Amino acid sequence: SLFTSSPPLYPSPASAGIGWEIAFAQADAFVGNLTLDEKLTLLTGIAQGPCVGNIPAIPRVNFQGLCLQDGPLSIRQATYASVFPAGLTAAASWDKGLIYQRGLYLGAEFKAKGAHVALGPVAGPLGRSAYGGRGWEGFSPDPYLTGVAMEQTISAMQMSGVQATAKHFIGNEQETQRNPSISKNGVTIESVSANIDDRTMHELYLWPFANAVRAGVASVMCSYNRLNSSYSCQNSKALNGLLKEELGFQGYVMSDWEAVHAGVATVEAGLDMNMPGPVGFGITTPSFWGSNLTMAVTNGSVSEVRIDDMARRIMTPYFHLRQNIDYPPIDPESGDINSLGVHPYLDTFKFGPANVDVRGTHAQLIRELGAAGTVLLKNIDGTLPLNAPKTIGVFGNDAGDLTDGLYPISDKYEYGTLAVAGGSGTGRLTYVVSPLDALKDRAARDGSLVQYLLNNELLSNPTTAFQSIAPSPPEVCLVFLKTWMQEGEDRTTLLADWNSTAVVESVASNCNNTVVITHTGGMNVMPWANHPNVTAIVAAHLPGQESGNSLVDILYGDVNPSGKLPYTIAHAEEDYAFAAIANSTQLQETEDPNAWQSDFKEGLLIDYRHFDYYNRSVLYEFGFGLSYTNFSMSNLNIRNVYGNKITARPLPAPIVPGGNPTLYDVLFQVTAVVTNTGPVGGAAIPQLYVSLPQRQDPTPLKVLRGFEKVSLQPGEDTTVTFDLMRRDISYWDTKHQEWIIGGGSIGVHAGFSSRDIRLVASFSPM
Ligand code: NOJ
Repeated sequence: SLFTSSPPLYPSPASAGIGWEIAFAQADAFVGNLTLDEKLTLLTGIAQGPCVGNIPAIPRVNFQGLCLQDGPLSIRQATYASVFPAGLTAAASWDKGLIYQRGLYLGAEFKAKGAHVALGPVAGPLGRSAYGGRGWEGFSPDPYLTGVAMEQTISAMQMSGVQATAKHFIGNEQETQRNPSISKNGVTIESVSANIDDRTMHELYLWPFANAVRAGVASVMCSYNRLNSSYSCQNSKALNGLLKEELGFQGYVMSDWEAVHAGVATVEAGLDMNMPGPVGFGITTPSFWGSNLTMAVTNGSVSEVRIDDMARRIMTPYFHLRQNIDYPPIDPESGDINSLGVHPYLDTFKFGPANVDVRGTHAQLIRELGAAGTVLLKNIDGTLPLNAPKTIGVFGNDAGDLTDGLYPISDKYEYGTLAVAGGSGTGRLTYVVSPLDALKDRAARDGSLVQYLLNNELLSNPTTAFQSIAPSPPEVCLVFLKTWMQEGEDRTTLLADWNSTAVVESVASNCNNTVVITHTGGMNVMPWANHPNVTAIVAAHLPGQESGNSLVDILYGDVNPSGKLPYTIAHAEEDYAFAAIANSTQLQETEDPNAWQSDFKEGLLIDYRHFDYYNRSVLYEFGFGLSYTNFSMSNLNIRNVYGNKITARPLPAPIVPGGNPTLYDVLFQVTAVVTNTGPVGGAAIPQLYVSLPQRQDPTPLKVLRGFEKVSLQPGEDTTVTFDLMRRDISYWDTKHQEWIIGGGSIGVHAGFSSRDIRLVASFSPM
């Protein structure tokens, strides 16, 4: 196997609270005043409590405890909370401002419900495999785009006063065997090991976590899988080495729920908080930590110095975000309160009124971001925007309201639009505007007839598909497809669910103006994309609660589409085989504890990097999306803005959160002029890719290193500026363990997608 050992890295670096000096001093004083038992209380969760994760109160010192709640797009189980567009949708907007606003509102909702820690955002999975079940919780398989989204989201959430958690660290790229299992003969079969080489780790999977740490993220959640044969939550190279030493992370590492498989070893490897605490979420089950940790300290296996570091790491962000001052009490209707029976600690938590409505006016942003993250993939002869059609047909079980309830945890509900996917990354809807409802409302303004058939079984047969439709065919036929995804499950097909191919073909065979709209959390293949009667395709992703409104804004041209794919849509499933999920009958039936290995053999070449490197044609490339107007680009210019001599290596400098700060020095600025040459106003997303010199391991032909969203009226132009930081033009040198600017020239490609490059230039950095 490729990389099946992980070097030891001890001892665990202590936090000095860099960047959080005042809060660190407060935490230090606070911890200094605690007994050993009280310190240990801060480290191990208790399963019985009002939240998904609970650190109990220490009344003697007036500490109210910590409430940790899922997840990345909503305070998951809470009543009267908003369901925002998923991470994937946010990424598809390529709109830093909207992503920031989403984080701000998300944070405000967690805080108003009394949650101190939000269990998001997600940068792992990054999205190595199209089959991964959780790609949609994060942003994009491109680390730069994900890094920017992480930074915006974390800064914003913490600006609202809630602690953000960057998860899952690291290599959690598949759900299959993410946790250990017991074989037929009773052998414990260990979690899958993600085997990642050093360069790929740095340039791909670690990259967005560096942004997260740089943004001052309070917490990092280690993942379920093993990394290079060692469990992520006891991998000293990953936690002590990469995260705390190299990236200078000053906050605390919390475990994913039940990802802890040892006591002392996890403490020494850099884990600071054990969640949910006891083994198996149990009321009576012991913990690897808890009283065992007390014993480990009293018998000298773990030093109290490390315990103090853990406690300070946990308390510093708490003080930094002033959570000690008037933090809202916990809304008892926001989580797990009744799920585990007896709650011996319950009265130590500070409760407020139930069912507090925290949604504010966030629906407006949700609607706007839902539309901004919608990508127009095909639009023949101006099919869209719709122009007062006399008849509209609405087809498919994804078009209407939900029939199985508003908390979409039960998998594969048949009827109802997919606004959010499942697992701990889901959200309890207070309402959802279905596409059908929104279309009926909008169509009424024009007096259009809206007819609908939502039964995919009837639809998949061309003779029954239009049985109730008159006049037939409608002027435009909108077909809605959905693809369920959830934590704990990888996908087995990249087709949309519910017989989607037959449904589209049958509608298209009846209607020569068929528009397909997809709601999905990931990469879907679209075997019907080139059907001549499919005149438009809209990838609406997972838009959140305002789904129908966001979509109608795009379909009718009230909002000019500007979303771009944050991933690649290939022609066929086989094209994604380069990053397959480790799984087979042999593995399922194995008696070998170490059988589950996933070698990341493709290295850096995931998503568009793969398709570009091997020169493969794709259906819709990374960065692609149509508009109702046209844009041109001119005047590419590269300027050295550094002012000092540029060296190959970064200057030695004290490590701060994010790593060596000189990695983020802006060395070059690239500018280009973007002009709206079409008939209507709209937003363009100019994108900057760079080509770094090839090295021994395959180096991607080009990588995204800049993007901006610019709104322009017809005829208007503007100059966009892309900052190239040192890290953006360096590769990770495994021998020197350093980011290095390679010799030779660097290519610059500016355009409107990864394959719609308008201007090319090159420069020599040194
Ligand atoms: C497991 C998931 O992997 C994680 O993302 C989540 O925050 C916890 N469960 C708590 O629900």
